[in-house]
Amino acid sequence: MGSAGPKYDPKFTQHVIDATGPKTSPRIREVISSLTRHLHDWAREVDLTADEWMEGVNMINWAGRMSDEKRNEGQLMCDVLGIESLVDEITYKKAAEAADVATQSAILGPFFRHDHPTLPKGANISHDTPSDAEPVYMYGRVTCAKTGKALAGATIDVWQASTNGYYEQQDPNQKDLNLRGKFVTDENGEYGFYCIRPTPYPIPFDGPAGKLLQLLDRHPYRPAHIHLIVLVEGFKPITTQIFDKDSKYLDDDSVFAVKDSLVVEFVPLEGDSTAKKQLQYDVRMAPLDSKAQGTELATSGSINA
Ligand code: BEZ
Ligand code: FE
Repeated sequence: MGSAGPKYDPKFTQHVIDATGPKTSPRIREVISSLTRHLHDWAREVDLTADEWMEGVNMINWAGRMSDEKRNEGQLMCDVLGIESLVDEITYKKAAEAADVATQSAILGPFFRHDHPTLPKGANISHDTPSDAEPVYMYGRVTCAKTGKALAGATIDVWQASTNGYYEQQDPNQKDLNLRGKFVTDENGEYGFYCIRPTPYPIPFDGPAGKLLQLLDRHPYRPAHIHLIVLVEGFKPITTQIFDKDSKYLDDDSVFAVKDSLVVEFVPLEGDSTAKKQLQYDVRMAPLDSKAQGTELATSGSINA
């Protein structure tokens, strides 16, 4: 005895959206109205049951309970669903269009710290380097993408996981601030430091993000990478990651952050007592007034938080 009418109340979603009050800001109205529409359409499309909805609510609450200043499980869940990478693409669309000019961006991820020590050129960010780590000398030049001019005084924040797959704040056996540093380019725009060749690691999977991966029959691994944030006055900040061309998981990063232009090659280094490999990585910065400009902040404000 089914009627020919719509399956669910066709006026309900608009009724919810219309409840928004007149003092709401235009942007909040736009974002939340659209979110409501998409969420309602999604629930109707999949005939979401009350039990399934409550399972989702429980996962969100679980993520909240697990999160603190060292762990951001909500961000991890978004990462697994590709949201941070999508937002990176949207935010830096203009920069991406000029990708042949400026260095491309990539997601920040949850392991950045604001208190990296400023270190002199040639310092080693790896303390108590594990025996399975391959020391690397990483160096390069920061230049203006428009003019090619060297940029002196640029800061380069760098951070990476150790060979056991943990960033230092996840691992009580690593020294505070291990594998992190901030470097300032010299008058030739040059920087250089010792680090270790990065290795693939799993994102934390003992919480709801891991549960999501498991439900989706996916692995938690990220390809080997080093994180960078490059800042210099008058230029668009760059938050990015560089990926080892020989790494596993370049094609199936669990958080979808790999871009071809960010894949790099570690090559042999002769005559150095600390490292047998080297990596040259030059960074091209877009002037703030150029076409390659995205927004003023590289990391949704979080580098200044
Ligand atoms: C990271 O590269 O540090 C990262 C990014 C997204 C989720 C987890 C870790
Ligand atoms: Fe990482």
